[in-house]
Amino acid sequence: MKSYNIALMPGDGTGPEVLVEGVKVLDAVASKFGFKLNYENYDFGGERYMKTGECLPDNAVDELKKHDSIFLGAIGHPDVKPGILELGILLKLRFALDQYINLRPVKLYPNVETPLKDKGPEHIDFTVIRENTGGIYTGMGGAAMVGTPNEVATQVMVYTRPVVERCLRYAYEYTRKRNKNKTLTLVHKCNVLTHVGDLWVRAHKEIGDAEFQDIKQDYNHVDAATMWMVKSPEFYDVIVTSNLFGDIITDLGAMIQGGMGIAAGGNINPEGVSMFEPIGGSAPKYTGKNIINPLAAICSGGMMLETLGEDAAAKAIDQAVNDAMASGKIKSLSAGKMGMSTTEVGDFVASLIK
Ligand code: IPM
Ligand code: MN
Repeated sequence: MKSYNIALMPGDGTGPEVLVEGVKVLDAVASKFGFKLNYENYDFGGERYMKTGECLPDNAVDELKKHDSIFLGAIGHPDVKPGILELGILLKLRFALDQYINLRPVKLYPNVETPLKDKGPEHIDFTVIRENTGGIYTGMGGAAMVGTPNEVATQVMVYTRPVVERCLRYAYEYTRKRNKNKTLTLVHKCNVLTHVGDLWVRAHKEIGDAEFQDIKQDYNHVDAATMWMVKSPEFYDVIVTSNLFGDIITDLGAMIQGGMGIAAGGNINPEGVSMFEPIGGSAPKYTGKNIINPLAAICSGGMMLETLGEDAAAKAIDQAVNDAMASGKIKSLSAGKMGMSTTEVGDFVASLIK
């Protein structure tokens, strides 16, 4: 029997609670589809940091690299200064494992309330592919004369042709595999960011013309994209964008698909070890109450299986989440308002796996 080794990183806050439900559903599909998942637990997160002063010990990255995939609950602790865990764990792993794609589907399931007027599941179904290791996130830049009236700081948007190209190729391939209108929209700000924007625009066109003539090329400035995502989300099939723009527009995307309770994400290295996470964070105030929504974690588990090549099992998870929402039994996606506990939502979705 085929088997996969999965590193579990429950992390902080409600991370452990949602991850357990994700694993429950993964195990339900694994037995149906004839593969096995072996798990190993890692306790990286706020608690460990406060005890040991370490975010990710030196040997941890090598340890994690030995797995087929990483499944993460949430990182972020109210007693740790913001930035430390995010940089020391989440961003460190993205960079160290070269997870250069951040995949964030924006999909409205049935009965899920969206703030967009007159829009339903037939309108909201697109994927954002965010470049995940470059741009402003590289940390390049610096500060001088700090604390003086003339202090200066820079944060540089760094992109090289290879980094842009590998992201665009992934996005084109992804668009080809989807069954929508075969359109890859590049989102940037080339009217102002003339150097970096121009690099993305030319690479998008050149790769598309040469290798993906079956895919339509489209371009939006990022400010306009936020407007169109709200006004005409049905237009989008796949969006590809740079790191910071992707960070911003995927929070908007999460809201139009019904909120953080259902927003799943994957940090992907197509040739290496990827990491999947619900993007909602650790939600400290709901911790331990069994009221947080585990659907985002469950959907992230589905994305993990797709990346591992278990497409049928991944589809089965997506279908089960769809059926769970279509049943009307889950009343809301918000913590405490679901009409079910965290555990019950996990049981319910697992029971719907066909
Ligand atoms: C995300 C988060 C992270 C990011 C933070 C926590 C570093 O906002 O995954 O979208 O900016 O990428
Ligand atoms: Mn973000």
